[in-house]
Amino acid sequence: MDQNETDAVADLADRFLAGRRGWEPLILADEIRAESQRLPLGIRQFLVACRTAEEPVITVANLPVDEGLVPTPASWQVAEKEGAAVREELVLLLIASVLGDPFAWANQQNGRLVHDVCPARGQESSLTSASSETQLTLHTEDVFHACRGDYVALMCLRNPDRVGTTVAGLDSRSLPEPLREVLQQERFRFYPDDSHAVPPRYSGGRPVAREEREHEVASVLFGPADAPYLRIDADFTSALPGDAEAGKAMEECAELLNASAERVVLSPGEAVFLDNYRVVHGRDVFVPRYDGADRWLKRTSVVRDLRRTFVHTRSRSRVLG
Ligand SMILES: [Fe+2]
Repeated sequence: MDQNETDAVADLADRFLAGRRGWEPLILADEIRAESQRLPLGIRQFLVACRTAEEPVITVANLPVDEGLVPTPASWQVAEKEGAAVREELVLLLIASVLGDPFAWANQQNGRLVHDVCPARGQESSLTSASSETQLTLHTEDVFHACRGDYVALMCLRNPDRVGTTVAGLDSRSLPEPLREVLQQERFRFYPDDSHAVPPRYSGGRPVAREEREHEVASVLFGPADAPYLRIDADFTSALPGDAEAGKAMEECAELLNASAERVVLSPGEAVFLDNYRVVHGRDVFVPRYDGADRWLKRTSVVRDLRRTFVHTRSRSRVLG
């Protein structure tokens, strides 16, 4: 975006917030969707063209970030309590609403529509977005669920150490035939990740063991035969018991993805929309500072049409789970 567009987005967000009493994104989501049609024409045309072409990675730069941005919160819980960087949340939702419908998970970050991604003490080695010193393996977001997002949306507020987001896709035409065939068959179990595995009534408790979690059985490759979509998370996908061939295929698939992974380094004001059907993503290891200057992203999940979710969950809700 050029400076005029950046200013126009900032102005749109400021006017929207000035006309409302509080910031409750779940309640305002429908209004935000309508308001997104007031974004500059160039940005809307760009996003719609990318959506139609199913671009795997869509990047938008020069989004407005407050010059007086508060220090990076110590955790998402602190960010929630302080209502940190509200205008940036709105900007992300405005842009995301051109691509589809942002939605939330009841058991992730208290059911919030926009998450804060920042390192938290004690979580350095967890398999969640609060981690830092553990590599987040390449994964499909919310791999276990039929209503997982079409896009993972990340907007960068701060990233002084240039921590990379890793992204990888598969050119299915280059897959050897036996491997491709196995990956297209329903021989895999998809489990919820740890953020979904703490029963709500035990919040703050330990996640239940992976094998005890409810899971779906499905294929890794699915959809259009000539350019299939992808679904995999090596930490939370396994072959059906006793199916060594499927197990090997999954390992090979994960290796191919690792070998083709690219790093996307986000700068403040940059947002990236990762097509969750076409690419997997992860995050580099980094040493957290815990000094208020740590990497800080806003994140939301986007489904192309919320009605798919309404049908599956039999509920007219933007919050799943
Ligand atoms: Fe993720």
